[in-house]
Amino acid sequence: MALFIDSSEPKEIKDLFAWGVLSGVTTNPLIIAKEAPDADLGERIREILAVSTGDVSVELTTETEAEMIQESLHYHAWDASRITIKVPFSETGLRVLHQLVRRGIKTNVTCLMAMNQAYLSALAGATYVSIFSGRVRDMGYDVRPVISATRSILDREGLPSKIIVGSMRHMMDVNEALEAGAHVPTVTPPILRKMVWNPRTIETIAEFNNAWRARPKKK
Ligand code: E4P
Repeated sequence: MALFIDSSEPKEIKDLFAWGVLSGVTTNPLIIAKEAPDADLGERIREILAVSTGDVSVELTTETEAEMIQESLHYHAWDASRITIKVPFSETGLRVLHQLVRRGIKTNVTCLMAMNQAYLSALAGATYVSIFSGRVRDMGYDVRPVISATRSILDREGLPSKIIVGSMRHMMDVNEALEAGAHVPTVTPPILRKMVWNPRTIETIAEFNNAWRARPKKK
């Protein structure tokens, strides 16, 4: 069981890794375009590597097989043991995945909306298969059966791919993904902070500390 952070913000990533609950980072082109449109991708990812531990997913942005392989090798060279190539799922994506797996490069097949897609990715040897909770729900479907069916089939077939569930919109999505069998929820910083916050906890701690401060002191 693991929890990843879905962000490309090095300062935020550093602060949140200090909690000791995170063991990897996922990024995607949309996140980076929003958070750091002018950044040099290589520099940004190196900063993230420096403030985190575990696998760091970097997504391919090219669309032909040859370009995707070249792009993958470029990213892989930044840190061969931690960079995980995020391969968008498609027929081309599967061909690219197959080549990366044969070269021993870590992979994360992304933009998955259905168990059959995750199953194919796992058969081709993906390290991670990423199911997009919020985007499945946007289409009007319940994502929980997608996650649980994927988990059952991976377990039944003994396929070692780990299920990442991303595209989280609410804290409840994280709870449901965990209950449905996700190996690795990947959460945005605001959602991770919401997982800590509980008004009754805050109130209880304040009650204890106030009582301690107000205790009768020996004269
Ligand atoms: C997961 O790896 C993706 O980066 C991400 O969670 C996608 O989420 P979105 O639907 O908010 O774009």
